Amino acid sequence: AGGIGITPMISMAATLKAAGQDFTFHYTGRSAPVMAYRDALRESFGEALHLHCDDDATALDLGAVIDSLGPQAHLYVCGPKGLIEATKAKAEAAGVAAERIHFELFDAPQEQEGDSAFEVEVASSGEVFTIPPGQSIIDVLEAGGVDVMYDCQRGDCGICQCDVLSGTPDHRDVVLSEAERAAGNVMQICVSRAKSPRLVLDI
Ligand code: FES
Repeated sequence: AGGIGITPMISMAATLKAAGQDFTFHYTGRSAPVMAYRDALRESFGEALHLHCDDDATALDLGAVIDSLGPQAHLYVCGPKGLIEATKAKAEAAGVAAERIHFELFDAPQEQEGDSAFEVEVASSGEVFTIPPGQSIIDVLEAGGVDVMYDCQRGDCGICQCDVLSGTPDHRDVVLSEAERAAGNVMQICVSRAKSPRLVLDI
C-alpha cells in the first residue's frame, strides 16, 4: 500500500488474518509522521507488517518484495499511479503472471501541463466531438448523448476500454501492459487522451 491507498488494504489484511491465510503487508510513505494508522497496524498485524519510509533506510525496495513472492502468491497494490506502474513493471519483468497482479488506483486523474484539445470521431455515427483540456472523453461523449460504459473513472478498472480505429492515444491508465500501450489498439477513455489531432473510436 502507498500513502492513503492503505485504507482498502487494511480490510483485506484483516480478512486474511481472520481466515488464517499467510500474507505479508508492505506499507510505504514519504516519511513516518505522515503515514496514517502506523501504530494500530503494528498492533494488528505484527511481523506481517513492513513499514517503509522514503526518507530513511527502510525505503521500499520493490524488486526485493517481488523477488520474495512465492510461486503461487498474489500481489495486491493500492496507491498512487507511480507506485502501481512501478510494481506492475517490476512484477511483469520478474515473470509474475498478470492474473496474480491486482491493483487499485487511489488517486484522482490529473490534468497534465500542456494538455490540449483533440477530436474524437464516434465510428458508428460519424459524429465528431472536441475534447478540451480538463474534460475526459467520457465527459464530452456523455454530454453529447453518446452511451458509454464506465466505472472507476480513474483508469484502473478497464470497463471503459475502447478499440482505437485510428489516431494515437496518450495512455494515462494503469490497466494496460507496456505492449498494449505500444500497440495503441485500445484505450481507457476515462483518463487517456490523444497524441494525434483526432482519434476514431469503435463506439
Ligand atoms: S472507467 Fe475504469 S478504467 Fe475507465
